[in-house]
Amino acid sequence: MQTGTGMSDLEGAIAELKEAYARGNPRSEARHQRARSSMPGGNTRTTLFYDPFPLVFGGAARATLTSIDGDDYTDFLSDFTAGLYGHSHPEIVKTIHEIVDEGLTLGGYNDYEAAFAHELCKRFPSVDLVRFTNSGTEANLMALATATAGTGRDAVVVFRGGYHGGVLAFSDGHSPTNAPYDFHIAEYNDPAGATTLIRELGDSLAAVLVEPMLGSGGCIPADREFLQSLRTETTRVGALLIFDEVMTSRLSFGGMQQRSNIEPDLTTLGKYLGGGMSFGAFGGREELMQRFDPSRAGAWAHPGTFNNNVLTMAAGLAGLRHVLTEDALHELNERGDRLRQSLTSIFERAGAPLRVTGLGSMLTIHPLTGVVHSRADLERSRESVRELLFFHLLADGFWLARRTMVALNLSITDEDCEALVTSVRRFVDRYGDILV
Ligand SMILES: Cc1ncc(COP(=O)(O)O)c(C=O)c1O
Repeated sequence: MQTGTGMSDLEGAIAELKEAYARGNPRSEARHQRARSSMPGGNTRTTLFYDPFPLVFGGAARATLTSIDGDDYTDFLSDFTAGLYGHSHPEIVKTIHEIVDEGLTLGGYNDYEAAFAHELCKRFPSVDLVRFTNSGTEANLMALATATAGTGRDAVVVFRGGYHGGVLAFSDGHSPTNAPYDFHIAEYNDPAGATTLIRELGDSLAAVLVEPMLGSGGCIPADREFLQSLRTETTRVGALLIFDEVMTSRLSFGGMQQRSNIEPDLTTLGKYLGGGMSFGAFGGREELMQRFDPSRAGAWAHPGTFNNNVLTMAAGLAGLRHVLTEDALHELNERGDRLRQSLTSIFERAGAPLRVTGLGSMLTIHPLTGVVHSRADLERSRESVRELLFFHLLADGFWLARRTMVALNLSITDEDCEALVTSVRRFVDRYGDILV
């Protein structure tokens, strides 16, 4: 349907919400315009940008973010999973204060790194030994380096819709800024296609790199059969299977590898595991990781000024030791399951063209109908509906990713989830007619 302005009702509704957003956030807009003079597009983290300008936050406490325009938002994004502990969790804050008092940038071994490594090895079944990096991107680059150096081969299989970092992005196939590996892209959740490709590549294949659930790619869980086929076929051709658990490690105490009972050769970690500090890690089978032992002749190098950054080591350790118990993680994931179920019920009852995907404490709302099983299914997605939903939720005080992804944090309560569900119900009631 068209409005008097020549816009469809949907476009008109988006324009109305965006105008109200721009009127309500003049400080964020001014800050954005100023930032453009020193950063391309006023931005240093692509994912955070959205039109007409992104909100700027001045602070946060527990599950609440406060913008520099003075508004509070319940944080349902939790920094794309990195903020699992909520804002300024007292245990983490206490630890950071202690570390600041004890001294930063030590430039030597510190008393936290081995204990932290031990906690990670204890949790993740495939990780016998681990090394730290500064980001998930770097962890994946190091895992790929381990695979190519270890096998003496070059080819790497990845999946459409996969995201493994700024230089390892396969949302829409190859990206011009990707690292120059010999990548071969297969379809996610297509065991037959992956099997054929792996067999074709045979003894030129170094590794298969896969997220056990596409995270940035839309919270699409892998079928167990798919992961099992990757395990079987990589073993058959002598290539390594790498699970990128940078996001999914939170989906059970031992990550998705424990949940699926499939062990990769290497695992990469990141996000929340550093207690909110910059973090990444790669680890795996002892005989592979031992190659980095510097006391061995011909050891592989992995230096890195901030690899054992004392703030990250101590904050990460405090989080795992004192906060993120198996019970706490289980409760977080159950809350996410309930939230996903509630949202799904709203959409089903109203016959609204929206779907919710994900597992546990991570979900994405997709503006489409039918099954969501691979990146190709998202081609049916109506991005204008996603935009309307994003601005509607923002107006109601909820912070989600612009791609309508949710990741819960430990400060989010059932009442917060109920409030989000109520806002989504209002969205469906108000706009139901123009969504179809
Ligand atoms: C699955 C996955 N791998 C790797 C990365 C990259 O991590 P980082 O942003 O810490 O470099 C991300 C970031 O979103 C991710 O979701």
